[in-house]
Amino acid sequence: MISVVIPTYNEAAVIEETLRRAAAALCAASEDFELVVVDDDSADGTAQRAESLAPAIPVRVLKRPGRLGLATAVLDGWAMARGEILGVMDADLQHPPEVLTALAQAIRKDAADLAIGSRYVPGGGTSDWTWLRRFISRTATHMAATVLPLKLAAVGDPMSGVFLLRASALQDAKLNPMGYKILLEVIAKAHYRKLVEVPYVFQERERGSSKLGARQYLEYLLHLAKLASGTGQLLGWLGYGLVGLVGAVIDVALFYFFVERWGWRPAPALAAAILVALSSNYAGNETFTFRMREAGATQGGFGVRMARYVRVCIPGALLNMLVTLLVISQGGGVFTGAAVGVVSGGIYNFLFNIPAIWRTWNRLVEPPSPAG
Ligand code: GDD
Ligand code: MN
Repeated sequence: MISVVIPTYNEAAVIEETLRRAAAALCAASEDFELVVVDDDSADGTAQRAESLAPAIPVRVLKRPGRLGLATAVLDGWAMARGEILGVMDADLQHPPEVLTALAQAIRKDAADLAIGSRYVPGGGTSDWTWLRRFISRTATHMAATVLPLKLAAVGDPMSGVFLLRASALQDAKLNPMGYKILLEVIAKAHYRKLVEVPYVFQERERGSSKLGARQYLEYLLHLAKLASGTGQLLGWLGYGLVGLVGAVIDVALFYFFVERWGWRPAPALAAAILVALSSNYAGNETFTFRMREAGATQGGFGVRMARYVRVCIPGALLNMLVTLLVISQGGGVFTGAAVGVVSGGIYNFLFNIPAIWRTWNRLVEPPSPAG
């Protein structure tokens, strides 16, 4: 049985349509299911409307005494759920309930342990968002993937509010009900082997209003920090940082040596130095940073991975070269140029490239198999 939790806070205008469409979507996937509405004492009668649909639709309603928050609503709903597959979806139709069909199939047919409705895989999207809203959402997603690359770098939409997972994946996972993003907790702490993302288009809210405010944004940042320290990710960062530091020293030292001792011209000397530094970084991360990576997380042999790694490092390397040569052409010394260049490349990688780089060692997501 699939139990889908639908948290509600003043969603009377849409709850009936949501429940009907969710039920139809799960029927279409030939699933035995229940819908668990967790209502936080909505003043508009959301709970009564939901109850009025039973028994025609298998829906149960948990009424909580006041606004206790989205994450705890989901956890309370799962606690009373009967299914061996658990899920969550918003009540306001911004998640088109029809996505449940594909999510259920991803769990059953593709044997996924976690199936996420995703805005950020091909076919998914955000209907009419302004560029500012898009930018904020993308930045928040990218930040999460940068802070927690081992867990999140391979997930397109780790902040999704619609997903299904096997209840067994939550066994002895201590989920901390913090903030709005319960999926972050699940990805970071649940035990799953196969994660699948199913595209959907996030709809505009037509009725009711969003419950997301400044407080939720702040909680989000705290949540990320907490996850980083609680998941062992900090240790990974330590290894990665040390390996990078060694690489930077190699880069500067070799460049200096090639130019000052062997009399090479700066451009080829730099290219050679960077290539050696990249190889050292790759080997170092392979041996230390990612030694304990999850089995099956990586695809391809040593050579294939190294090529992938070097390829994602090209933009940072080019920036490094550009800055180094620029500093030298402006009369800066060989050493200064190389040092400023390598720091520029490092900053670029840290800001924009961490998820892509760490994906070299972690590819946990597989695309859903074609329908049918
Ligand atoms: N029980 C309960 N308690 N439900 C709540 C609460 C609460 O304190 N706050 C919000 N909800 C319910 C809303 O009624 C709605 O069904 C759902 O949770 C999402 O709330 P929205 O306020 O509509 O959130 P959003 O549209 O900004 O963001 C949603 O979609 C994003 C993209 O998938 C959330 O699900 C986000 O977590 C998600 O990232
Ligand atoms: Mn919404």
